[in-house]
Amino acid sequence: MEFNVEEINKLIRSRRSMYPQLYTDQVIDREIVEQVLENANWAPTHRITEPWRFKVFTGKGLEILANYQAELYKKLSGEKFEQKKYDKLKLKPTQCSHVISIGVKKTDKVPEIEDIEAVACAVQNMYLTTRAYGIGAYWGSGGITYKKEANEFFDLGEEDTLLGFFFMGYPKIDFPEGNRTPIANKVTWVEE
Ligand SMILES: Cc1cc2nc3c(=O)[nH]c(=O)nc-3n(C[C@H](O)[C@H](O)[C@H](O)COP(=O)(O)O)c2cc1C
Repeated sequence: MEFNVEEINKLIRSRRSMYPQLYTDQVIDREIVEQVLENANWAPTHRITEPWRFKVFTGKGLEILANYQAELYKKLSGEKFEQKKYDKLKLKPTQCSHVISIGVKKTDKVPEIEDIEAVACAVQNMYLTTRAYGIGAYWGSGGITYKKEANEFFDLGEEDTLLGFFFMGYPKIDFPEGNRTPIANKVTWVEE
């Protein structure tokens, strides 16, 4: 067998979302982040549109992101403004080693949903790569996700979409066990 299937099964099943409050101060080496991005780039992509677009924030960049998203939230929320949400948006990136914004580029080659699906595959590659390195990560779609007003900041065009953020850092705790209902509940086999 070309690959160690047992190891791959273990990797996939032990992948977990790990949140910024669980990260240490240790900064992830740039070479590792580049591997995470490289693996994202090998996701399946219908008609090879390669629609994933990323912007990587680290070091002082994390504060720039934190300030930007908190202020945009304030500007757009109007009467619905909540100080707690603002504070969280300002804090969360600063608890990370790296935050990568996840964008989908609009192409006219396939239905938009297929480009979104390709980006989701790319993010799963990132999740698995971080897990393999023992790095905690999660895809967050809160805050300013989907806000067109944010596109320019994330180097996205008007027709592109911000799908959220991939938060990364070394975890203070072990990866917890996951929780899924049986796959048999979600599959129908047709055999005869
Ligand atoms: C598209 C997408 C968006 C998500 N957005 C959030 C989010 O905004 N906040 C959050 O706490 N978790 C978010 N998650 C992570 C899920 O909560 C997490 O995958 C789920 O609880 C299962 O846990 P696991 O990833 O550890 O298996 C998101 C996951 C996906 C796929």
